[in-house]
Amino acid sequence: MNMARNNRLDQLDPEWRRLELLCWCLSKGRRGEKPGDDELQQLRDLQAQVHALRGQDGGWQSLLELELHPLEFDILAAVLAPELEPRIGWSFQNLQAGLSQPWATRSLMQELFALDVQQAAELRGFLGPHGTLRRRRLIRCEQEGPYAPIVPEPVLIGCITGITMEIPPPPGATPVHQQAGWDDLVLPASKLAMLKEYLLWIEQRETVVHSWQGQPVGGPVALFTGPSGTGKTFAASVLAGSLGWQLFRVDLGCLVSKYVGETEENLNKLFDAAHNQPMVLQFDEADALFAKRGEVKEARDRYANMEVSHLLSRIEAHNGPCILTTNLRKQLDGAFTRRFQMVVDFPRPDAEARAALWSHLLPPKAPLDPQVESAFIGGAVALTGGSIRNAALHAAYLAAGAELPIGLAHIAHAIWRELGKEGREIQLQDLGPLAEYLPSELVHEY
Ligand SMILES: Nc1ncnc2c1ncn2[C@@H]1O[C@H](COP(=O)(O)OP(=O)(O)O)[C@@H](O)[C@H]1O
Ligand SMILES: [Mg+2]
Repeated sequence: MNMARNNRLDQLDPEWRRLELLCWCLSKGRRGEKPGDDELQQLRDLQAQVHALRGQDGGWQSLLELELHPLEFDILAAVLAPELEPRIGWSFQNLQAGLSQPWATRSLMQELFALDVQQAAELRGFLGPHGTLRRRRLIRCEQEGPYAPIVPEPVLIGCITGITMEIPPPPGATPVHQQAGWDDLVLPASKLAMLKEYLLWIEQRETVVHSWQGQPVGGPVALFTGPSGTGKTFAASVLAGSLGWQLFRVDLGCLVSKYVGETEENLNKLFDAAHNQPMVLQFDEADALFAKRGEVKEARDRYANMEVSHLLSRIEAHNGPCILTTNLRKQLDGAFTRRFQMVVDFPRPDAEARAALWSHLLPPKAPLDPQVESAFIGGAVALTGGSIRNAALHAAYLAAGAELPIGLAHIAHAIWRELGKEGREIQLQDLGPLAEYLPSELVHEY
């Protein structure tokens, strides 16, 4: 059992005791009885404990960045309680005569927290489709209105219990497990801005489509182009992570089966399972989708092309973020790129970006020789982020094997190996100013 997880859950105990007491007071109130002085005192004590819990180092830590209103915390506690403390589920059910489920409705919350008219209006806003809680898919309401049950989403349960409620991968997709934050992503500011704008398409959908009656389009669909290893998948993980959602990669090759009927069926299975789920779908090697019409030579290709344009329409129609990636940019037809909400071209990193990548990708606690300066290494060889990651790790293993801090010889050695992977002839001068650090026994290997 995971200790951190238990501690966090135990910490929330005052939340449950408060809810239990509130239920008790409410049922008394409905019988026309007033809560006793000791009960009121106990409630005040619990209130104070709960207040502390909702700050730094409390049980709600993982949600602090959302800067929730106290009433939003009340909602979350009420939504989670039946899941985590079944006895409260029973109390909720008893208090909601005629409902055959344990989840609290808005009307119960209003009574339970004894809200006045203005607070009740706030509650309605917080529970509405534009509220943070629903936008972040922490809670779900199957219907609108005061008597609809409000249910916790897997993301919420995951944040609070520390147990990642793995959403089962939709058929044809595999989970990408990568924890990455905006600070780890090394890209020009303009590209970061585009990625953040793409997030707006997801987070502000309710406002633009529902409140402002903007035209609903599927997706949003983004196209990430750029050479391999420039961070396309990494950026998709950052986007998914910042939504608190899971990233899944879809293998297009497997999906587009050779058999006509099956492709359709595979697509339906995939998108049905992904519908309304907190997930980002990434379709790699999407170039297959964009073959220009003129390029179709054989009848078989034409047939494949029909499939493919259908596939693209299906992706566009899906209600949820899809990211297509490709290494090719030039071949892309304007008619295709216009179909995406965002096209982000991932450049090869320049010297400054490479320096930043080196400092991010060398293991943070590894001992470094003082000669190892990221600006120097970054300036020396023009690698992509993916190659820098490999080389940085290889250098770390070399140093660990030699029981030494990571030095320039390890780094030159690791880059030499990385360059050698490409299978072309490599020369000492490919290492630039790092060449003089390459251990001499390696020079003639290739
Ligand atoms: N722009 C970048 N910023 C931060 N890390 C990067 C970047 N590009 C590549 N990397 C590192 O290289 C690894 C491989 O990159 P990846 O995202 O798989 O590239 P792509 O999908 O473009 O082929 C990443 O997991 C990350 O560690
Ligand atoms: Mg990738």
